[in-house]
Amino acid sequence: MRQLITALLTLSVLSAPALAADTAKDNYNAYCVQCHGMQGNGMGLNVRDMSVQPRDHTDAKAMSGRTDDELFKVIKEGGLSISKSVLMPAWNDVFSDQEITNLVVHLRELCQCKYGK
Ligand code: HEC
Repeated sequence: MRQLITALLTLSVLSAPALAADTAKDNYNAYCVQCHGMQGNGMGLNVRDMSVQPRDHTDAKAMSGRTDDELFKVIKEGGLSISKSVLMPAWNDVFSDQEITNLVVHLRELCQCKYGK
């Protein structure tokens, strides 16, 4: 029994970083895809009716023009905070700073890019 508990504890410690990534993906899939699209390519269900099109998060060229701090800020405080459209909502009431940080990591996975490259 003790061995089983140790094994389970080890497993949960090992899978913690993976869980953070999964959570960010789940959050993205729950809160972002209706505008940014199931593949993050900016083709969400809402776009037909939107005057400003959501960012294509798989566009490495555009996304590499943003620092992680800017991505964090626009998610937390909304489009207006970086002089973008108010149609990009602010998420500070929905996500903790840690969850927003994890979302930024997820965005970097979608674009396969970093700031400046
Ligand atoms: C109601 C629709 C909508 C939802 C939901 C939404 N966004 Fe946006 N988002 C937009 C629009 C529209 C823009 C583009 C604003 C502009 O270009 O002026 C945008 C822009 C962005 C940008 C800025 C990209 C750039 O460099 O210009 C990021 C980052 C972003 N969204 C992340 C997210 C994340 C993460 C979520 C989910 C937590 C999310 N968005 C949910 C509509 C939405």
